[in-house]
Amino acid sequence: MNDAKEEIRARLPVEDVISQYIELKRAGRTLKGRSPWGVDKTPSFMVSPEKGIWHDFSANKGGDIFTFVMEVEGISFKEALEKLAAQAGVDISRYAGGDAKLAKRKARAREALELATKYYQYCLSKSRRVSEYVFYKRNLNRAIVKEFRIGYAPKEGQACKKFLQSRGFSESELIDAGLLNRFNGDMFRGRMIVPFIDTTGNVIGYTARVLDKSEPKYLNTQDTLLFNKSRFIFGLAQAKEAIRKSGFVVIVEGNMDVISSHQAGVKEAVATSGTAMTEQHLKALSRLTADIRLAYDGDEAGVKAAERAIMMAGDLGINLTVISDYQGAKDPDELIQRGARLWQKAVEERKPAVEWLLEKYEEKVDLKTGFGKREYSDIALRLLGFVKDKVERAHYEEEVAKKLDVSREDLHGKADDLARKMSERPKKRLKKAKTEMKSDRIIGLEDNLLSIMVYGGVDGPEELEVPEDETKLSELELIFDNTYKNYSKSDLEKEVEDLYKALKNEMAKNEIEQLTAELENEDIEPEREKEVLKKINELQKSKK
Ligand code: UTP
Ligand code: MN
Repeated sequence: MNDAKEEIRARLPVEDVISQYIELKRAGRTLKGRSPWGVDKTPSFMVSPEKGIWHDFSANKGGDIFTFVMEVEGISFKEALEKLAAQAGVDISRYAGGDAKLAKRKARAREALELATKYYQYCLSKSRRVSEYVFYKRNLNRAIVKEFRIGYAPKEGQACKKFLQSRGFSESELIDAGLLNRFNGDMFRGRMIVPFIDTTGNVIGYTARVLDKSEPKYLNTQDTLLFNKSRFIFGLAQAKEAIRKSGFVVIVEGNMDVISSHQAGVKEAVATSGTAMTEQHLKALSRLTADIRLAYDGDEAGVKAAERAIMMAGDLGINLTVISDYQGAKDPDELIQRGARLWQKAVEERKPAVEWLLEKYEEKVDLKTGFGKREYSDIALRLLGFVKDKVERAHYEEEVAKKLDVSREDLHGKADDLARKMSERPKKRLKKAKTEMKSDRIIGLEDNLLSIMVYGGVDGPEELEVPEDETKLSELELIFDNTYKNYSKSDLEKEVEDLYKALKNEMAKNEIEQLTAELENEDIEPEREKEVLKKINELQKSKK
């Protein structure tokens, strides 16, 4: 970009740019004018055509044409550059991404990673023990190991570094590549190496697995000049051809699930690597195909991740289906170990995400209580909002209304209320999230409690403050009308008791989560660690 800047500067005299904004008069070798920031009575703004700079003595700032336009127009450097390039008739696309130094660094990082990958592949071929793990324990065949370029990083602290240095790479080049840890030793040691390969075929990073039960199971390359984990889709390089041909993609949770799936003939499998699914991942995949199938693990974490992905996709207007019948296996890899055919069949038998998620919620909430009904209907309505097809939506509405024991009209009424509420909501939620780390579930329980306290005339816990804010109050009224209108006084009292119990539990859970997160911080002081562990213990006891 520096070259672009130079060319524009050479073509646009500073006095020409500035006199578009203020009147300049010659005064010897310089030009003078009034400050565009309007604080001076006498001209205190100077321009030097010779030096190509300006200085404002009243406002105490100065610079070149780019900073002037940035300041005066309140725009970013990039915007100023584009604006001035247009004036100067300079085509900046010629310079685009054109920081030659950066391009060079990226190229060197790519070369280092290519060579490291070959080195790791070589190390795998030399180790019998590791080969046993890869070929027998993980059941991978030669072809797939070659295609995914699987390798092994030796245990010695600097083995890979030394090898690459002997081939002319400097320490800083290896850092750029993400190959070194913070002590400048090898990032990956004693692990099976799986390269991240981008769709042009370049290695841009790795995920590396231990061969035993030690922790962490996987180490991943952190974001570098080449690797961005929020964008990278593992396996896409190897899957894109199949996705194009068969018109669908399968998203699995683990990298090893991807590799096993390809070996089992389902070459449409990809994964997000070392991070949860992002909008960028989803958008990129939706550009390839409209048939996106989610095949996350069957455990609680997998279901949670699927739920998150479905909501995100819904908000983006992207349709998903869910593959969930692993016949008791915990993930696709495990199912494939029992037989490739089982996995091939599972991929065909998928459910619309809405249907799948409604079933999950039905298992989770207690539809006999008011709060359960509210939770279920909140989520159901949000999900139904994602269904574009009218007939399909009517079908789900019927189902949901039946579950809630209400008419479709009542459901519609609540949907309208909800839509209104939602439009006022985001701002408020954001504020809350900042001041205190309350989960959505806690807020939900509190809202229900407050709605009964305010509109049902039942006393509740004292620590809950009744809000004065009008919008909040009408939100509570809405909750009461939708959920508790037909409750008797004793029903309400019972509900307050139940809600309060649930709230206390949830708050303990929330605190445990936060404390646990603190424990995961490597730099935690031993004293604090002890304290946190004790606290978690107490909370766990108080929780029922
Ligand atoms: P899993 O533990 O489900 O992976 O984590 P997996 O593929 O089934 O592992 P195997 O079969 O035991 O080898 C799913 C994904 O979560 C990320 C990785 O991207 C992994 O593929 N993960 C997991 C990490 O980044 N670090 C970890 O320590 C564990
Ligand atoms: Mn697995």
